[in-house]
Amino acid sequence: MNILTFDTEEQIGIAAGYYMCGQVLQKPNSVLGLATGSTPVRAYKHMIELYNKGAVDFSQVTTFNLDEYVHLDVKDKNSYHSFMHENLFDYINIPEENINFLDGNAKDLESECKEYEKKIRKSGGIDIQLLGIGSNGHIAFNEPADSFQRWSHIVELKESTIKDNSRFFNSIEEVPTRALTMGIGSIMQAKRILIIAIGEQKAKAIKQLIDGNVTPQCPASVLQFHTDVTLMLDNGAASLL
Ligand code: PGA
Repeated sequence: MNILTFDTEEQIGIAAGYYMCGQVLQKPNSVLGLATGSTPVRAYKHMIELYNKGAVDFSQVTTFNLDEYVHLDVKDKNSYHSFMHENLFDYINIPEENINFLDGNAKDLESECKEYEKKIRKSGGIDIQLLGIGSNGHIAFNEPADSFQRWSHIVELKESTIKDNSRFFNSIEEVPTRALTMGIGSIMQAKRILIIAIGEQKAKAIKQLIDGNVTPQCPASVLQFHTDVTLMLDNGAASLL
């Protein structure tokens, strides 16, 4: 694994923004796997800056997002659709038809998951997958469990996740209780993976990811089996290494 540490969140944002854009410069029709959460926001900001400078063109890029809530209007401010438009898509030139999300409002959620996997395959596969990590080692909505879930699937959100995410909603009752997420196999098939982690609360999960046992109790640990993983960490997230 390529482990890079930085002094500030801003530096991580710059490095990650360049890393993602470097992929697009090398291969203009890249397929990018994208993530939501507070971690990637600065990387997206720098991707926008590089686009505004004319350094990179996204017109041939395709994207797949990791996850989305079930039964939340895509226009709701808390949907991951809204998040991605507000933080990236509205400011760069990825054609709308090249942007892909799991549809949490699909009539048949299971076949939606199967179709998503087919779409990823048809696109040629994800060239680079950007990931955050939960303090419990989750990646996307793959929470600690007794086994790895391979492909995109429906998840019942854990009480703790609902509680964590309720800070964005008016009340805890408004937080969706289910989501669709790419699986561990979907993520592992990406050709390259970039993980960003910021803050001491991520240090334990990062240590386990790097040199702990590979176990579904820490879903991110499976990334030890991937051959092209880059980690961008601040000093807090790297503090147990
Ligand atoms: P965060 O979430 O970026 O908001 O810390 C990361 C994650 O849960 O994957």
